[in-house]
Amino acid sequence: MKGLILSGGTGSRLYPLTYTNAKQLIPVANKPILFRVIESIRDAGITEIGIVVGNTADQIKDAVGRGGRWGVNITYIQQEAPLGLAHAVKISQEFIGEDPFVMFLGDNVIQGGISKLISEFATSGWNSQIVLTRIDHPEQYGVAELGEDGRIIRLIEKPKNPPSDLALVGIYMFDKSVFEAVNAITPSWRGELEITDAIQWLVDNGYTVHPYIHRGWWIDTGRPGDMLEANDLVLEEIEYKIEGYVDRDSQVGRRVTIERGAEIINSVVRGPAIIGKNTRIVNSYIGPFTSIYHDVLIENSEIEHSMVLEHSVIKDIGARIQDSLIGRNVTITRSPIKPKAHKLTLGDNSQVGIL
Ligand code: DAU
Repeated sequence: MKGLILSGGTGSRLYPLTYTNAKQLIPVANKPILFRVIESIRDAGITEIGIVVGNTADQIKDAVGRGGRWGVNITYIQQEAPLGLAHAVKISQEFIGEDPFVMFLGDNVIQGGISKLISEFATSGWNSQIVLTRIDHPEQYGVAELGEDGRIIRLIEKPKNPPSDLALVGIYMFDKSVFEAVNAITPSWRGELEITDAIQWLVDNGYTVHPYIHRGWWIDTGRPGDMLEANDLVLEEIEYKIEGYVDRDSQVGRRVTIERGAEIINSVVRGPAIIGKNTRIVNSYIGPFTSIYHDVLIENSEIEHSMVLEHSVIKDIGARIQDSLIGRNVTITRSPIKPKAHKLTLGDNSQVGIL
């Protein structure tokens, strides 16, 4: 089998974090989501992986390379515009050839990996397998309606009145019949070739599409809140290890990872939390469910349930920062210059809550 990861798109719902960066490269528990996706596919025994890229192609290629570090072979497939998930499949036909494949959306994080799903599909004779999960707000996703016999009746993309609570998770398995489907369908009201329409076409034309119901957690990291939730869930499951320096005046809890070159000086870190490479935590408190990425400085400050990306500085902040997503190269400090006021330089679409 081959793997196909979709890493195009604009990431507009995550602005301003994704103005300058691909959303699939945002780290969850200090590892880019895209790397987690590559690892799940590799762990299922697949080594030929195509990545569909859009206007953030250069960043993705720089970060991922040719795949040697994971023991896989990466082929990049350029998509001229985000014309839909089924369009991404269409342009990948040459790479896929006659092989069955798993398509994984590059912004999805799922508990438990996909090895079982892949081995089941490989031996099943089904034309496709889709993954569904029960959720509270299915209207934001593709939704499936199943019959009493458990077979798929209907798939609808982001319905106003969802016929069930079964959302489509961004992991799909197909054989070559999907290429007939993506060539037969037409763009939806939002101008995209929808993968839900392609799967519906397979169902309507007598192909076997097996619905698998996933019972663990699953997050589509489309919005900032989803990103923090994915970070919470992954932080609870990572292996904890102390590879950096912790001085004698600091207290570091059990479920904490301190990466190489990081320094914890006169501070408290409560887990689950991760402190990235060469980051310095000085006279500070890092509370549970916090990921601080590499080369960050946190000094005389308190932060919890948050994510801070690389090369940022948080210094001398009196109030505790929480539930926050702080991007790259951000500086938050107390200003000594009068008048005493909040002095902000924020990008478009930033959100700041001030006491
Ligand atoms: O996450 C699950 C949902 O993903 C499903 O429930 C929906 O049925 C499915 O349509 C999809 O919905 P989203 O609106 O979340 O898709 P989004 O536009 O966020 O794109 C998902 C990933 O695919 C993202 O990593 C960007 C990439 N992509 C997207 C489009 C539209 C491409 O590479 N090319 C594209 O043309």
